[in-house]
Amino acid sequence: MARIHFLTGNAGKVDEAVHHLAPLGHDVVQLSIDGIVEPQAEELETVARAKLEQAKAHLPDPNDWLMVEDAGLFVEALDGFPGVYSSYALSTLGCHGLLRLLDHLHSEDLHVEAGLRRAEFRAVAALMTPQGTFIGEGACLGRIAPALDGEGGFGFDPVFIPRDLDLSGQPAEIGVQGEVSTHGRTFAAVDMDLKGKFSHRTEALQDLLAQLGTADEAASAS
Ligand code: IMP
Repeated sequence: MARIHFLTGNAGKVDEAVHHLAPLGHDVVQLSIDGIVEPQAEELETVARAKLEQAKAHLPDPNDWLMVEDAGLFVEALDGFPGVYSSYALSTLGCHGLLRLLDHLHSEDLHVEAGLRRAEFRAVAALMTPQGTFIGEGACLGRIAPALDGEGGFGFDPVFIPRDLDLSGQPAEIGVQGEVSTHGRTFAAVDMDLKGKFSHRTEALQDLLAQLGTADEAASAS
């Protein structure tokens, strides 16, 4: 069991990580460092690994673990934009700008065929340990709404409608009503508990935990 320093300015993310990692005996603490540079890269994993490299010198004890998490909205018709640039795109274009961009690009088709507005949130949770670096990935499939919907949430929530999930938490077939559903509403229009069932961040952390479990089993077998 380890002390995990979570590099983030977002206390909400730390709470979520504590929720998943504390029951396994890990002690998660927030690490704030000024001057971390985000590289220009296409992949969340590249960005996460670059942050780990920059932050590792700041660990108080080299045996401690270091974690970062990065997320973004990837819109299919925009070749994955805003993706790794999601924070910047949110503060410049905003949700309205994203809708205008899509409408401008494929004006009619996009309204006719919801599939052409396909998008997904992706998250990467990267953990550096003395045994190596583990990368967990999560995704939430969905589509961009025709217009802003809802007052809650944050970021691109008002324009993102998640794909329904079946009982096992997998995305339901398009056009098939799933057991977990926002009924066509965006993340900004539903409560946090329901949004949490779709969370790309939770999935990334769980993927990470599964890999740690496998690594632990391998270490104790050898
Ligand atoms: P971060 O890497 O988690 O800070 O996410 C980068 C950007 O992606 C945020 O500023 C948001 O614009 C967007 N984003 C990531 N996850 C979500 C989400 O769950 N809802 C809405 N926007 C999100």
